Amino acid sequence: MPKYVFMGATGKIGTVAADYALEIAGPDQKLVFTSHSFPTNPTDKMKEWTKKGAELINADYDDVASLQKAFEGVEAVTFVSTWMFGEERRRQHKTVIDTAKACGVKRIGYTSFAGAGLEKDLPYLSEDHKYTEGVIFDSGLDYNIQRDYLYSDNIPQLFAPSWTYCGHKWLLNSKGVPAAYVARDDCARVAAALLLGKGKHKSVYEVTGPEAISDYKIFEYICRKTGYKGEIQDMTDEELAKWWTDKGLPLSVKGDFSKFPMKLSVPDLVSCGNVVERGLMKDVSGTVEELTGRKPLTEWEVVDRYSDILPRP
Ligand SMILES: NC(=O)c1ccc[n+]([C@@H]2O[C@H](COP(=O)([O-])OP(=O)(O)OC[C@H]3O[C@@H](n4cnc5c(N)ncnc54)[C@H](OP(=O)(O)O)[C@@H]3O)[C@@H](O)[C@H]2O)c1
Repeated sequence: MPKYVFMGATGKIGTVAADYALEIAGPDQKLVFTSHSFPTNPTDKMKEWTKKGAELINADYDDVASLQKAFEGVEAVTFVSTWMFGEERRRQHKTVIDTAKACGVKRIGYTSFAGAGLEKDLPYLSEDHKYTEGVIFDSGLDYNIQRDYLYSDNIPQLFAPSWTYCGHKWLLNSKGVPAAYVARDDCARVAAALLLGKGKHKSVYEVTGPEAISDYKIFEYICRKTGYKGEIQDMTDEELAKWWTDKGLPLSVKGDFSKFPMKLSVPDLVSCGNVVERGLMKDVSGTVEELTGRKPLTEWEVVDRYSDILPRP
């Protein structure tokens, strides 16, 4: 029976992707879920996955032997990008691809990002993804790359918590340009569908929400919904970077975020708005519905899911 490996199963994308993969897998498709952080005592979720027929294996992108064990006799591997921006992340991703090839895996799935297809002037956030895509293309393996837009979830989870800290302001740099933010859960379902062979050979999919909406409109929606009173301050990339750097927000994901309302480094934060402002998320694709049979969640549906953590008056 062909085996399909989903790597990073305990992450936010990973858990939803694993659940959905089990829901849609055919009787002749064996699923293997890996994590570099499965606890020794199985969680309820791990027990549920095992009960539904998945095999769980510890595998770390930094540990070739663990990857070899997971990739034995495998048809396709999908791996989730890590948070380790730069050299470390590139090395991790290349290790996964090289090892998969050496083990005879036929197809690679990867969660890439908007803008990774640009030839030059890449946004900071797209750079490692372009590199990883290049390694996949050069490997000669079959592939399904999904270029996820920024998640709709980022606004309630990462940006809204900063508003009170910033004096009831959303300091941003997106200049009112509309963006088709996509629900993280939809990206996860796309990843599972692609792993199980629902995509085309050697394909790159842009994964977007259903409509492009400006940050201004999203801010208005949240304020109307909660009664929160705040304002938007739209800055240049340089002004925004300086404001947060002066406050001491870390310049790298490895910094100390304990004094800040969100874990987002300065280059990451500035690049989010830059990607939007450059119009790299303005187009809407049909990927989510095509691959999962479900319309993508709207920004409003996603924001509503986070009602309990939105800023209040
Ligand atoms: N498009 C966007 O708006 C956006 C926003 C945030 C992040 N991202 C990117 O999307 C990725 C997934 O997002 P998420 O929200 O699911 O984040 P998350 O929950 O923090 O997931 C991180 C993922 O990396 C895996 N991982 C980390 N270190 C690993 C290692 N050494 N070996 C193997 N796997 C490792 C984790 O899997 P295990 O712990 O199970 O091994 C997990 O699947 C992020 O890592 C980031 O690259 C995109």
